[in-house]
Amino acid sequence: MTVARGGRLPNTIDEAMQQLNSSVDVDSALYREDIRGSQAHARGLARAGVISREDADTLVQGLEQVRSEIEAGKFEWDPAREDVHMNIEARLTEIVGPVGGKLHTGRSRNDQVATDLRLYCRGSIDTIIEAIAELCRVLLDRSETEVAALMPTYTHLQRAQPSRLSHHLMAWQEMLCRDAERLRDARLRLNESPLGAGAVAGSGFPLDREGVAEELEFGRPMRNSIDATASRDFLMEVASALAILGVHLSRICEEIVIWSSSEFGFLTLSDAFSTSSSMMPQKKNPDVAELIRGKSARLIGHVTALYTLEKSLCFGYGRELQEDKEPIFQACRDALQSLRALTGALGTCTFQHERLRAALDRGHVCATDLADYLVLQGVPFREAHHIVGGLVREAEERAVQLSELTPEVLAAAHTTLAQPEAQDALDPEKAVERRGLIGGPARARILAEVSAARARWQHFAS
Ligand code: ARG
Repeated sequence: MTVARGGRLPNTIDEAMQQLNSSVDVDSALYREDIRGSQAHARGLARAGVISREDADTLVQGLEQVRSEIEAGKFEWDPAREDVHMNIEARLTEIVGPVGGKLHTGRSRNDQVATDLRLYCRGSIDTIIEAIAELCRVLLDRSETEVAALMPTYTHLQRAQPSRLSHHLMAWQEMLCRDAERLRDARLRLNESPLGAGAVAGSGFPLDREGVAEELEFGRPMRNSIDATASRDFLMEVASALAILGVHLSRICEEIVIWSSSEFGFLTLSDAFSTSSSMMPQKKNPDVAELIRGKSARLIGHVTALYTLEKSLCFGYGRELQEDKEPIFQACRDALQSLRALTGALGTCTFQHERLRAALDRGHVCATDLADYLVLQGVPFREAHHIVGGLVREAEERAVQLSELTPEVLAAAHTTLAQPEAQDALDPEKAVERRGLIGGPARARILAEVSAARARWQHFAS
C-alpha cells in the first residue's frame, strides 16, 4: 500500500476505492512481459551509467526469482499493491533490498504498461496466426482429398451454379488468410518500444532507448513520449482484426449449422465435437458452431469497449486505460478457443458427397451454361438468357429439370438446342471443368490453388 501511494498520500485508501483501483486480478497475466521489460530497463540503466553493473545484475537476478516464484504458484498477489507492476517491484525489493528501489529510475508505470501490452499483443498475434494457419492446413488437406466432391454454389442461399466442395472450402481459406495478414500488419505497426517515454514527457537520464528496444526485439523506440504513453490504437487494431476474424468464423459456423441439418445433410460432425440434449434422446447438436457464433458477438463487444474507452481521452495517459486489459485478453482468448475448436471440428467431420452431389439435380443449376452454349452458337447473351429463362419456366410447369426437356421443346426454343452438344452444357461435371480460369472450380485449378496456398502459408511469417 505504501509502495503504491508513496509519500504524497501516506494514509490508507478507502475500501471501495481500493476495489476500483486494483487491477492485479486481471493484469497479473502480464507478469512475463513485465519482468522481461524490467530486465531490459535495468540493463539499459547500467549502460547509460545511471546505475552500476552490479546493481543491474542484482535487479535482473531478483526479477528471475520473482518469475520462478510466480511460476511455482508461490507468489502472493496483493490487491493493495494495485497492479502487476507494483506487486513485482515490491516483491523484488523484499528479495534484493533497497537496490530494488532503483529499478523505477527514469521509468513510469505509464511507459511500463504500454511496453507490457505491446509485448503481449506481439506474442498473442504469433500464437493466433499459427492457429489460423493450422485451421487453413485442415481446409487445404480436405480440399485436396475431397476434390472429387461436387456441390452447388449458392447466392441468396438459392442454388446457383455447379462447383466443388473444395472450391467452397478454399473460399473460407482465402478469407482466413486475409485475417492472418491483418494481424501481421498490426504486429508490424505495434512493434515499437515505449520505454524511456516515462510518465509522459520522457526522461532527463541519458537512457539507451535504442538498446532497450533492441533487447526487447522492438523495431525502434517510439518517437514521441506523449504518444507512447497515451495511445492504444494498437489495441483497437488487434481487437478489430480479431473481431473481423470472429465474424468470419461465425459465417463459416452458420454454414456448418445449416449443412449439418437433416434438411441439407451435407456434413456430419464427429461425436467429439457434438453435444446431445438433456431431454430429447435422438439429438446430436452442432454446438461447436453455435458457440463460435456466440464468441463472435463477444469479439465485437471487446473492440467496442476499446473504442469507447479511448474516444474521449485527452493526451497523455488517463487512468481509464487500466480497463483496456480485459477486452484485449478476452479477445485473444475467444479467438484462440474458437480457432482451435473449429480446426478440430472441420478436421473430423464427414462431408456427405452423395447429398452434396444430389443437390445439383434440382434447381436448374446449369441454366447459365446452356445460355453460354447458345452464345457460342452466335446468340447474343441477353437473348440467350431470355431463351433459357423461358425453358426453365417451361420445365417448372412440367415439373422436370432442364436436362429432362424433350428435344422438340428444346428445338422450339432454338434450333441448336436439339444438338447433342447442348446436352453437354447441362452436365454439372462438365460445367465445372469448363471453368478452369483463375478463381474457378475446375479440378486442376483447385489443386493448383491448394499447392499455391500451402507455399504461401510456409512463407507467411517471413
Ligand atoms: N495499472 C495501470 C494501467 O493498467 C498502470 C499504472 C499507471 N497508473 C498511474 N496512476 N499512472 O494502466
